[in-house]
Parts: sequence; C-alpha cells; structure tokens
Amino acid sequence: MNDLVKLTQQNEIAIITIDNPPVNALSPGVPEGIVASVEAANADPTIKAIVLIGGGTTFISGADIREFGKMTSGEKPRIALTPKLLIIEDSAKPVVVAIHGQALGGGLETAMAGHYRVIADTAQVGQPEVKLGIIPGAAGTQRLPRLAGVAKAVEMCAVGDPISAKEAVALGIADRLIEGDILAGAIAFAREIADKPVVRTRDRNEKLAGVDPAVFATARDTARKTKRGQPAALAAIDAVEAATKLSFEEGCEFEGQLFNECLFSIESKALIYAFFGERTVAKIPGIGKETATYEIKSAAVIGAGTMGGGIAMNYANAGIPVIIKETAQDALDRGLAVIRKNYANSVAKGRFSQAVMDQRMALITPQLTYDGFEQVDIVVEAVFEGMALKKEIFGTLDTIAKPSCILASNTSTLNIDDIASATKRPQMVIGHHFFSPANVMRLLEVVRGKDTSKEVIATSMALGKKLKKVAVLAGNCRGFIGNRMLHPYFRESQFLIEEGATVEEVNKTLYDFGWAMGPLAVSDLAGLDVGWRIRKEFRHLEKPGVRVPLVADLLCENGRFGQKAGCGFSKYDENRRPVPNPETAAFAEQVAREGGIERRSISKDEILDRCMYALINEGAKLLEEGIALRPVDIDIVYLNGYGFPAWRGGPMFYADTVGLKKVLARIEEFEAQHGSDLWSPAPLIKRLAAEGKTFSSYETQA
Ligand code: 3HC
Ligand code: NAI
Repeated sequence: MNDLVKLTQQNEIAIITIDNPPVNALSPGVPEGIVASVEAANADPTIKAIVLIGGGTTFISGADIREFGKMTSGEKPRIALTPKLLIIEDSAKPVVVAIHGQALGGGLETAMAGHYRVIADTAQVGQPEVKLGIIPGAAGTQRLPRLAGVAKAVEMCAVGDPISAKEAVALGIADRLIEGDILAGAIAFAREIADKPVVRTRDRNEKLAGVDPAVFATARDTARKTKRGQPAALAAIDAVEAATKLSFEEGCEFEGQLFNECLFSIESKALIYAFFGERTVAKIPGIGKETATYEIKSAAVIGAGTMGGGIAMNYANAGIPVIIKETAQDALDRGLAVIRKNYANSVAKGRFSQAVMDQRMALITPQLTYDGFEQVDIVVEAVFEGMALKKEIFGTLDTIAKPSCILASNTSTLNIDDIASATKRPQMVIGHHFFSPANVMRLLEVVRGKDTSKEVIATSMALGKKLKKVAVLAGNCRGFIGNRMLHPYFRESQFLIEEGATVEEVNKTLYDFGWAMGPLAVSDLAGLDVGWRIRKEFRHLEKPGVRVPLVADLLCENGRFGQKAGCGFSKYDENRRPVPNPETAAFAEQVAREGGIERRSISKDEILDRCMYALINEGAKLLEEGIALRPVDIDIVYLNGYGFPAWRGGPMFYADTVGLKKVLARIEEFEAQHGSDLWSPAPLIKRLAAEGKTFSSYETQA
C-alpha cells in the first residue's frame, strides 16, 4: 500500500504487514497505509477475512512520539488516529489482529479496533501513555473498558504498566493465545471466524454496566500519591469513567480534549524529554556502533557488603555467573544472607517463582579466594572506600585477571586514574558506580579514566543495558556527576537551617517540589557519618575563610548518625517516621551564634531556589569541564539515581523551564549575599543567558 504497510494474500485471507522498524511506531503513513489496505481488502471479492500484523520483532509500539513535539511547537497540526480506527472497525470483513512483541499505546488502540485479537504467548499489551504525561488519544479509554472491564482499564490507563499475553486473554482483550508462529496462528484463526458476522468493539457495552464508583475514587487516591504532580493519571481515570456515562462518540470527544490538554502540559514535555533522554545517554560521541565490545559471559565482585551483594544480584538476574569474594567467612555469610532474603522477598511478592530464585542463587559463587578470577570477563570491586585498599586490590587483580578482563571499581568518590595506576593496564580500568540498593536503583554511572579504552566504555554501556540499568557516562572527578552536584545542594540545605529555616520546612519544600525525599531526610537515610568521615579526611582541602555547614558534624559528634541511629537531623520513631529533633535546632542556633550568622524566617521560594540553583550551577560547571557530556546526561542521572521528579525533566530541564536569565539573576543575588566562593555563577549559564539560549541548545564539546 505504501513503503510502510504491505498488503499480501494467502488464498481467501488478506495480510496487512506493518514495516516501520525498529518498533513499528504509527509514524505518518502507517495509519493511512493500514486504512487503505483494509479498504482494498474489502473491495476484493476473493478476500473473506483480514489479518493485521507487525513485521519484525513487534506489533506496534504506539504513536510516533517524535511527532508530539512537532505538534506542540506548532510545526504540524495534530492528526487524530481515532477516525482512522473507526474505518478499521467498520470493515465488513473481519479483521484479526495478530500481536507479537508489544502492542502499546496507539498499538493497543489499533488492535482493539479490530474484531478479534490473537496474541503470541510472549507478547505484552499496555496503555503506557501516562508515563509520557498524556492519556490514550485514540479511543483507548473507551474501547479498553469494553474489553477488559472498567476496573482493569482504569488501572492500565492510570498506571501505565503493560500486562502479559496470558492476562490479556483472561481479561478478554485478546481472544486466543498463540504458541509458535503468530502469523500461521492468526491465519488459522481468521479462517475459523471468516463467515461469522463482525461485532464492533465499540458496540460491546456489557462490561460498562454496574461499576462500583469506588473503583474511580480509589484509583484517584492512589494516583494522587503515586503520580504526584502528574495530572495525566487523573485525566486517564476521568476518561475511562466517561466511558460508563457517555456514548462512545461523546467519550472519544472527551478523551480527545483531555489528551490535548495533557499533550501541551510541561509535565508531558518533561516526560517525553526523559523518554528520549534515556536513549540519548547510550550514544557516546566518538564511540559509535562500530566500536568493538568485549563479551561478558562471567563476572566477579569483590566485597559482599551493602553494594557488592546488590551488584552480584544484577549479574545473576541477567543470567551471568558471578563469583563474590570476601575476606572473612562471617562477612561472606552475612552478604549471602542478604541476597537470599532479597530474592525470597521477591518470591513472596509473586515477582518470580522459587525456581527462578534457585537458578539465580546457583549463578552466585561465594568464596574467600581469588580462585577462578583468571577466567572471568569483568571484576567489579566494592570494598571499603579507601585508596590504599583499592590500589592493593587492583595491583593483585593485574597479576591474576586475563588481559581482556575489565577491571571496574564501584568507588563513589575516589580518583579512577589513581586506582588504574596500580595496574599496568589502565585502558581496562573504569568506574561502575552503582547506587544503593544496587539491585533496585536503575542508575549506573560509568566513569571513564584518562586511559580507559573506547572498547571498555562501549562494553560498559552495553552491559548496563543488559543489567537493566540506565548507564550514563561521566568523567573522572570527585563525586562524578551525581554526588558532585549533590554536594552544594546538601550544603545549602544545611546553611538554610543554620540561618533559621526548620528541618521540616526544608524537607517539605523540596518534597512538595516533587523530589522523592527532602535533602535532610536523604542525608539521614544515607547516614550522616559517611560524609562526616570524608570531611574529616579532606579538611585540608577546604579553603580557609569559606563557610562550611557544621550542623551534621555536631550531630555526628553526639552519635546522631541519622536513621540507623534513630536520630539525625530528625528523630525517628519505631516505624521510621520522622519527628522534629530539638537538638538540631539547638546546634543550628549554636553554629549561627558562633559564626555570626543572622537568624531570620526564610521563605519557601528562597529554600527552593537556594537548593535547586546550587545543584544547577554545579551541573553547568560539570558541562564546561566535560565531566557530563550533555545536559540530558545530568538529567537522566538525577531522574534515575536521586529521586528527582521525572515530570520536571531533571535539574537542567527545569532550569530551562524557569529561564536561564532568571536563574542567573537569582544566582547573582545569592553571590552578593553569600560570596563568590560559594555562588560564582557558572560561565556557561552566563553565556547561555546572555545569548537568550537554553541548556537544551547546548552542544557537547566532546
Ligand atoms: N515513537 C517513536 N520512537 C520510538 C517509539 C515510539 N512510540 N518507541 C520506541 N521508539 C524508538 C526509540 O526512541 C529508539 O530509538 P533510537 O534507536 O533512535 O534510540 C528505538 O525506537 C528503539 O527503542 P528502544 O531502545 O526503547 O527499544 P526496546 O526494544 O528496548 O523497547 C519498547 C521497545 C518497549 C517499544 C520501548 O521503546 C517503548 O516503551 N516505547 C514507547 C512505548 C509508548 O510509550 N507508547 C505509547 C506512545 S503514545 C501513544 O501511543 C498515544 C496514542 O494513545 C495516540
Ligand atoms: P560495606 O562496608 O558495606 O562493604 C564492604 C565490604 O568489602 C565488606 O563486607 C568488607 O568485608 C569487604 N572487603 C574489604 N576488603 C576486602 C577484600 N580485600 N576482599 C574482599 N572483600 C573485602 O561498603 P559498601 O557501602 O558496600 O561500599 C563499597 C564501595 O561502594 C565503596 O567504595 C563505596 O564508596 C561504594 N559505594 C557505596 C554506596 C553506598 O550507598 N553504600 C553507593 C555507591 C558506591
């Protein structure tokens, strides 16, 4: 029919195949091609039924998301899919949709416009639009409740998670599960139903009646909690509810209005930016697809503590056998017990079966020696944070590991080049900075040393994907991208309490902005002693006369190490709920008195701006130094490792939404108040603001 959609025939069955790699998005031409094919098949007297299938590895991944930006910028009008799907549904000859891979968003909406659906047993279907800050825009909120029932439709549209083929059949979204060849199964099914009268999904109203209104109320409560700041989730619920109150046509009209409102929202722009950002960070300038990679078939982790155990689980989860080495039996036993408990929790929650847990445990070999290290393809070191120990270990690894073995360190602060200098193969040394808990957090900062080879970087980025992480490349500096930016952010959060804000005000302001937790709550969770020890070690690097935050140190000197001690900036009850800690206020007053800091009441705006602009200013400096390749790399780090709200796009995207001129003006105000050592504006912000540009216009210097 056109380059993107082909119409062929097997005897009395027409086969429409979508051919728009890699994921058969509904790009311009695809819906038109499908409609033209359906019309041609209807006009052909030799055809009795129609099969619609995706070419390649999947059915349809949804609307072409790249088109949304063109619509909101005014470059293109919105071309609604809904009327085209009506033509498919009005086909006089039955349309059997064959789903393999995924039918997502507009993909599922297209499938539901057919009269029957057969589905490969490995396939998934879903309405993930809410994750992009929009709602289904092609009658998904109207047809899905008619097939799956209202409660399930509400959940699928408001949460956005896909469901399995088996569940799709059980719910009535699909009519038959196909094991084996999906096309052959679909053709066989089409022959069976070819002579039956067609029933349009939009006429199947039986599941819309008698719905308990609590379904909507409960879903709204959940959405307000789990999708804070995201109006699309509530809009999706409204649209599905409309299916129970309005005619199909009116419901579609209502859905269309809500879709448009969501599409033009800043939240949607941020979430779409994050979707593409996650894919952009995998692309490293100068390290193209042609770069050779090492095959990682086996691994070893050194250290079975907080991080080592979680890292080993990532390998086992990906089916890669992994040795985990400790120095003492009790530490090894403790580490293994935690791994076992984590897996058992997942089994108890029904995430996977006991058999899967057993397989994963069998892939983990605990030991106290370096036996077998000569064979593994990668070693990840996760021992205590100390340069002497790390160098000793890398020196040893250099004598044992095979030449092609990647030597990775999970250090969070130490210099990768110094660690590499303990080996004769610095090209094989790299940072793999996982985040705690390492088996849960999606971020992996890949830290390149000055000699790290392109092949080792390319392998690390590909490995990240295999381990189901979002890998972001960072340059080598103290704290890399994430922790280095966190430093001034945490600093300001403490300064603010020294100047008169309460812990609760600071935490709540940042939480209300959308962060998963406020900065002082995060510090309490991570443990105040970690930073305290580091600060003591690096005190000689502090510039004399420059203000440093002191309350956390005072808390630590009194054993108030944070949540684990039941007390830090806040006190914690037996359920880990925070309550104000009067000591913190007393220490803050003491610091202010001794340091001559004026105490005053501080507005929410100031709390927000001081914390956020400290973060953003440091981010801009990282770009200038080439530590972060692009603003989007910083944003993806913050969305996946630090609980920054995805619907705000990340710190750099947020700065763009505020406007860099405004950001600069505020930073200059803080510079005047607190001095240039703390607040000198990044030259990059000055330049972009002067040129009227945004971070998103920034071109990588790499
Ligand atoms: N539109 C445009 N491009 C898309 C796309 C889409 N719907 N889905 C994927 N792509 C692109 C990716 O950006 C990537 O491009 P790149 O190679 O240039 O970086 C390429 O296709 C491959 O994607 P992935 O790397 O993500 O491949 P995976 O195999 O890991 O995942 C997937 C495949 C599960 C389909 C995943 O890409 C995905 O979740 N896609 C988005 C699905 C979605 O949200 N659909 C709803 C869209 S909105 C909609 O349909 C509105 C409707 O109601 C009108
Ligand atoms: P941890 O103290 O929980 O575990 C370290 C483990 O290493 C201990 O079990 C110890 O017995 C073992 N070990 C020490 N020397 C060893 C050797 N020679 N051979 C084998 N095992 C040895 O420490 P944690 O928190 O897991 O940190 C490990 C590394 O990960 C550090 O470099 C840290 O900076 C980094 N990191 C920590 C994060 C965290 O949140 N805890 C986050 C990201 C990185």
